[in-house]
Amino acid sequence: MGGRFALKAREHLRAPERKRYFNEKHFEEAARRYDLATRAMSLGRDAAWKRALVAALPDLRAPACVDIACGTGDVAFLLAGRYPGGTVVGVDIAAGMLALAGKRNRFPNVRFEPGDMEALPFADGSVDVLTGSYALRNAPELRSALGEIRRVLADDGTAAILDFSRPESPLLQKLQFLLLKGWCGSWGFLLHGTPEVHGYVAESLAVFPDRGRFAGILRAEGFEVASSRRFFLGITELLLLRKATSPVTGATRGKAVCTCATGSPDERRGSRRPG
Ligand SMILES: C[S@@+](CC[C@H](N)C(=O)[O-])C[C@H]1O[C@@H](n2cnc3c(N)ncnc32)[C@H](O)[C@@H]1O
Repeated sequence: MGGRFALKAREHLRAPERKRYFNEKHFEEAARRYDLATRAMSLGRDAAWKRALVAALPDLRAPACVDIACGTGDVAFLLAGRYPGGTVVGVDIAAGMLALAGKRNRFPNVRFEPGDMEALPFADGSVDVLTGSYALRNAPELRSALGEIRRVLADDGTAAILDFSRPESPLLQKLQFLLLKGWCGSWGFLLHGTPEVHGYVAESLAVFPDRGRFAGILRAEGFEVASSRRFFLGITELLLLRKATSPVTGATRGKAVCTCATGSPDERRGSRRPG
């Protein structure tokens, strides 16, 4: 993209296709300084939260792992360290993020592929561990993304979700919005010349369900919350999710997942299992 990033988050977040478009452009712009921005905006805490996410996962011998909205690969690399006998696929819609993730990759069991969290290129029930950090807030349609997670997750699989968390009190919501808009927007201005980059964090959270509603949506989409942990006065939260109807067996498995394909979301969705 030539020149300064010119899209306005607020004008794009209420319609799924506009949000997807905004995200593609926004994260292509953000990619080159994303790691620096994330460290700065979280006051250096982001790496610890991601380590906590991976530490909270169950012990498994050779799980098939997928990191949705993988960005530059932080969580995928932690998963590879945690599960050296497993496989890890990071998917993201932004080519710039994937290029950086690929450059950083030193793990033979990690690969990165283009992919939309609402049309995951994996077969039903083929994923043992699914992670998403700062992922679901970006979903054009939250329920559709949750439906995809549920579809690809094995019956005894685990999903771990780390993201900003929206309080239920309108006063705290307002305070959180102003804080994040000012803080993250300032980093957007410093690093990209406009607060629209990273100010998006506040805007996307403002249209995301608060904690109570989110818990209800998770239940309605067939998940149970196995555990939750909040960081930084509850600004971010880590949730471990399981499929509601299936007990966790703790069995270790080693399914692999398919390679990504081009084509329409329907063609890509759930079509293949790897050899
Ligand atoms: C805030 S970044 C998080 C990156 C990484 N998970 C991390 O924690 O550092 C959000 C990521 O979501 C990706 N993204 C946005 N919409 C997406 C979608 N519909 N499907 C897949 N990835 C998406 C963006 O390209 C970006 O890399």
